[in-house]
Amino acid sequence: NISKYLSDLITDSVQAEFEEFKEKFVINSEKDKPWQYSTPTAIKLWNMNKNMTSSYPFIKSCKELAERISELIPTTGMIESVAISKAGKGPDEKSGYFINIYLSTSAMAQKLQELVTTDITYQTEKKLKVVVDFSSPNIAKNLHVGHLRTTILGDSMARLLEFMGHDVKRVNHIGDWGTQFGMLIAHMQDKYPDFLDQQPEISDLDGFYKEAKKRFDKEEDFKTRSRETVVKLQGGDQEILEGWKMIVNVSRVQFDKIYKRLDIVNNEYGESFYNDMIPPLVQKLEEDGIVVEDDGCKCIFIPKIKVPLIVVKSDGGYNYDTTDLAAMKYRIEVEKAERIIVLTDMGQNFHFKQVEGACIKAGILDPKTTKFDHMCFGLILDENGERFRSSSGESVQLVSLLDEAKERATELCKMKHENASEEIKLTEEEYQERGEIIGLASLKYYDLKQNRSSSYVFSYDRILDSKGDTGVYLLYMYVRLCSILRKGGYDEERLAEVAKETELILETPEEIKLGLLLLRLPEYLDGVMNDLQLNMLCSILYEVSTQVGSFYANNKVLGDPKEASRILLIEITRKVMKTLFELLGMKTLEQI
Ligand code: ARG
Repeated sequence: NISKYLSDLITDSVQAEFEEFKEKFVINSEKDKPWQYSTPTAIKLWNMNKNMTSSYPFIKSCKELAERISELIPTTGMIESVAISKAGKGPDEKSGYFINIYLSTSAMAQKLQELVTTDITYQTEKKLKVVVDFSSPNIAKNLHVGHLRTTILGDSMARLLEFMGHDVKRVNHIGDWGTQFGMLIAHMQDKYPDFLDQQPEISDLDGFYKEAKKRFDKEEDFKTRSRETVVKLQGGDQEILEGWKMIVNVSRVQFDKIYKRLDIVNNEYGESFYNDMIPPLVQKLEEDGIVVEDDGCKCIFIPKIKVPLIVVKSDGGYNYDTTDLAAMKYRIEVEKAERIIVLTDMGQNFHFKQVEGACIKAGILDPKTTKFDHMCFGLILDENGERFRSSSGESVQLVSLLDEAKERATELCKMKHENASEEIKLTEEEYQERGEIIGLASLKYYDLKQNRSSSYVFSYDRILDSKGDTGVYLLYMYVRLCSILRKGGYDEERLAEVAKETELILETPEEIKLGLLLLRLPEYLDGVMNDLQLNMLCSILYEVSTQVGSFYANNKVLGDPKEASRILLIEITRKVMKTLFELLGMKTLEQI
């Protein structure tokens, strides 16, 4: 992280002379300035120490302070030179001054060169134990479009944390418990009487759920039996428990198919996992006076929040909230989580505010040692700004969304080859494979590039547009880099040789701009860790792509006297892009 490196270096150099400056130098990266970094710290220090002239009689203005600081900054290594610039238009002696830092292009080139032969990695200062709770669908329903964002954002968040060296636990907090299982099991007993001997084939889970619900609402007997079944389930009745396991398993098999397609790994710790932990937890909290009776329920009142968290319902049952309380306790006390990130849509903001507040009050969560984040996101809308639904008015199944993205991308690949020579053309199966990669990667990219707090409009045309800030464009760009390397005969071995023999030189404006962008990767990643805005990863990837595009449009690579150095730059760009694709969970192609 260059800005962090500069900040430390400058802070140390300045503090050696100005001992009372305890401030850390804030370094901002600049985009379209002749310098690459700048710091407003002289202005800040001057304003804080107006009368510093008494201890430093030679400093009579912010300008003089900035000048003195500039002299103290060592111009070796990464720093080529330092200069000051006035803020605003006032008279010199009264104005504030920025200190601007010009990086050494040769030091930048040297740093970049190391990346040709080493893996791109990131060393975190402090390895944390992090729980990422994502996807977390409810059992006995199919995955819907509503699960797209939690699944994709959560996976990417986990990938980023893993890349940064943290110890990540990916948790799928599936909704596998609750009163609805009474009617589901009862319905299964009727529909598949020999379910104990043979796992029933329920391909349409939504349909099965609806049938059960319909009967529950209409048939009084069925309703009674459903209720009895819940009680039996909670009491641990063997047969009922078997039925429950089967229903959960049917869902699990279907979820896993989608996770596999999306290349997503997570570990199931469903709501039922916490069942046994709940009664002793509630009892303890009652003894501690945290859980109190209110209006027939047992609740936790939370400072600054009007509505209490209901822990035990009036019928004595536990609920979603209780489970989240137990989950928080388990994650902190047993898993030793130092950071917990839960992904759901904005609709659950209040729920997680309550859970967080209740856990702090109960002493389960100490914000000093565990950071809790509800990483929430907006909805997916249709072109009319309504919730995205299928033509029959139902929520769109995730699997059909993936299928359609794949189908359209497959068409795209075929069209691209329409006028190509026969030897380039692929078999149907190969087109399908490419379609799957491009379709799903583009779908993910489109989701990830959105500001997650806003809702966005779903459009296949935009997702699969080959121009602009889209997955398709980025994948093509990546292929282009691969094909330059291929054409020049640069395989891994040859590249290692070139890296040894050739010095990477950053000379033209495009080379310098691209080089700097690549070196800033860790800086950007640190930024994402703070605000959990993964769209930043997309912005960098897009910027790298457009930058490398303008680099090779304006700088000849193959056949140029500077070919070797430029090839190194292309290879590093390819590696950085690959890293970003991986963080976003996007598969890539090497040719199209
Ligand atoms: N199953 C829930 C839903 O579909 C999401 C669970 C999120 N995680 C949690 N710990 N509450 O809305």
